[in-house]
Amino acid sequence: MLIAQITDLHVSFDPAFLDGRVAPLEAVLRAVAVLAALDPRPDAVLLTGDLAENGSAEEYAFIRHALGELDLPVFAVPGNHDSSPAMRTGLGSFMRASEASHACYVVDDFPLSLVGLDTSVAGKAHGALDPARLEWLEKVLGQRAGRPVFMFMHHPPFDTGIRTMDACGLLEGRERLAELIAWHGGVVGVVCGHVHRSIHTSVAGVPTVVAPSCAHQIALELRANAPLQYRLEPPAIALHRCEQGQMMVSHVRYIPDFPGPWRF
Ligand SMILES: [Fe+2]
Repeated sequence: MLIAQITDLHVSFDPAFLDGRVAPLEAVLRAVAVLAALDPRPDAVLLTGDLAENGSAEEYAFIRHALGELDLPVFAVPGNHDSSPAMRTGLGSFMRASEASHACYVVDDFPLSLVGLDTSVAGKAHGALDPARLEWLEKVLGQRAGRPVFMFMHHPPFDTGIRTMDACGLLEGRERLAELIAWHGGVVGVVCGHVHRSIHTSVAGVPTVVAPSCAHQIALELRANAPLQYRLEPPAIALHRCEQGQMMVSHVRYIPDFPGPWRF
C-alpha cells in the first residue's frame, strides 16, 4: 500500500498571511499537481492537521475542492489551527464517523487499518490524547489484533529538540500511546505534522515521521531559548510505502517551483 501525506497546509485567504511571504492556496495546488502526477498512484492521501489557518468554512471548501480533484480516498485529522466542527462539516467524506468527544476514527478499507488520532485541544496550540481518546484507541487496537495498523495524527508523540514546538507538542498521553503501540504489536508506522520539517524517530520500535509542510517550514533551531522562526525551504509531501512483513518506508517528495528561499 502506498500512502501519500500532506500536512500543515494553513490555507488562508488573507493576503497578509505571514507578511505575504507565503501563498498557501498556491502551495496546496502545487502539492495536488505533484500528487496527481504520481506513478504509481497512491492508494490514499492523509491530511495531518493544520489544514486551515483560521478554521473557516471557506478554507475547508477550498481544501475539499482542491483535494477532490485527485479522485483518491482522502482522510483528514485536525491540528491546532483547525476547527473540528467546521472541518467535519466542510470536508465531508474526508473524515469518518467518530465519538462525540473527539474526532478519532478508523478506516478498514485497505490491507492495513488507518487510525486517525485527533490530538487537538480546542483553543490551544498544544496537543493531548486524553483518557477518552486513549480508551477509544485501546478498544480499536484490541478489535484489530493481528491486523497491521497505520496511525496518523497532528502533534508528534515525541520531543523534537526544537524547543518552541516541543512546548506546544503532545503534552498528554504520549506514554500510554507508546504502551498501546507496543501492546498491539502490528503498528507499522506513525505519521505526524505540526513541526513543518522532515523528522524521523521511532516510538515503541515503530518508525515515526514528521512530514514537512506543503507551504512554509520552521527553522531547524536546536538552541535552547531560540525564538520560533519560519523559512521558505522547499515544500514537500511524504510518501509512505507499507508492504506486508516490513515497517513503513518513508520518502519525502519535494514540490518544485517554490518561491524561495527566504528567511523571515
Ligand atoms: Fe502547522
